[in-house]
Amino acid sequence: MNYRILGRSGLRVSTVGVGTWQFGGEWGRVYTTADVAPILAAARDCGINLIDTAECYGDHLSEELIGATLPGARADWIIATKWGHKFHACFRRDHVCRPADLLEQLEGSLRALRTDHVDLLQFHSGDNAAFATEGMWEAAALARKQGKVRFLGNSIGANDNVFQTDASTSVGADVIQVVYNRLQREPEAGVLPSCLRQNLGVLARVPLASGFLSGKYRPGHVFAADDVREVWMKNGRDALLAEVGRIAATEVPAGVDMAAWALAWCLRHPAVTAVIPGCKDAAQVRANAAAVALDPAPHAHPQHTV
Ligand SMILES: NC(=O)c1ccc[n+]([C@@H]2O[C@H](COP(=O)([O-])OP(=O)(O)OC[C@H]3O[C@@H](n4cnc5c(N)ncnc54)[C@H](OP(=O)(O)O)[C@@H]3O)[C@@H](O)[C@H]2O)c1
Repeated sequence: MNYRILGRSGLRVSTVGVGTWQFGGEWGRVYTTADVAPILAAARDCGINLIDTAECYGDHLSEELIGATLPGARADWIIATKWGHKFHACFRRDHVCRPADLLEQLEGSLRALRTDHVDLLQFHSGDNAAFATEGMWEAAALARKQGKVRFLGNSIGANDNVFQTDASTSVGADVIQVVYNRLQREPEAGVLPSCLRQNLGVLARVPLASGFLSGKYRPGHVFAADDVREVWMKNGRDALLAEVGRIAATEVPAGVDMAAWALAWCLRHPAVTAVIPGCKDAAQVRANAAAVALDPAPHAHPQHTV
């Protein structure tokens, strides 16, 4: 595994982490502790120390499964979670951003994760009006002062939200999480340069374009009815899958696993600290960790030097 410093937070994270939206049950599969324990054990065995979860992957369900199965010592892990969405049922959530909501959600996260602090608490993809909710960032700063949160971040909703990224320093956020992958390069124009200017850590989410960049799906593929890719991602899906086929044929070297290639592709950008691919089983964790072997410059940017 390679490690980098998560921008000005100073946290030392593995360049490949584990995304855990999948544990909430919206990816065509219901997860139990028996499913999650081997995933996290594989992560630890590969040297992965970074887990991204959220309050709304199930109603704190992903966090509960992590809390119940986290291997080794709590201090060995960097746990990132979020505030701002209230889960009601699969594919149904609301935005909740009042200071009281943040504090209630954070307490729920700490209980579920069986910990007294999270390493990174991220604003969960709110629009610019939600971002400006009176007292919200002050409440987050208070939670930090109380030791319940080590660092704050913003998981921006729109890939090109330079306004919120530029405002990171003023709201006390040290990390940006953003959709970035070979098919979705919008952050390169403004978001990633802003992160470099402010020395923000960057977590590249959806680095496999929801699994499409694994290369295993063809145009016309139909996902399970309870898979988010069937519920929320039908529009334009075939065009993306056709583009994946073109990339596989023209950019991925022969014999190289396309998923690992796609993760290493994200890690090449000097602003990107780590990728957080969602993993459905231990084999995917191991395959994703292997991407570090394809990363040509693991410590290329000075702010990443460990
Ligand atoms: N607003 C937000 O803050 C937000 C939004 C989205 C995601 N996230 C975070 O970012 C994480 C990653 O995004 P994501 O999970 O949406 O998308 P992703 O990482 O691009 O894709 C994940 C999917 O790719 C497939 N996959 C993973 N590893 C693979 C491998 N080695 N080989 C082949 N297929 C593989 C799996 O699905 P199949 O095997 O079924 O194809 C998996 O469910 C999430 O888990 C979550 O933690 C945050």
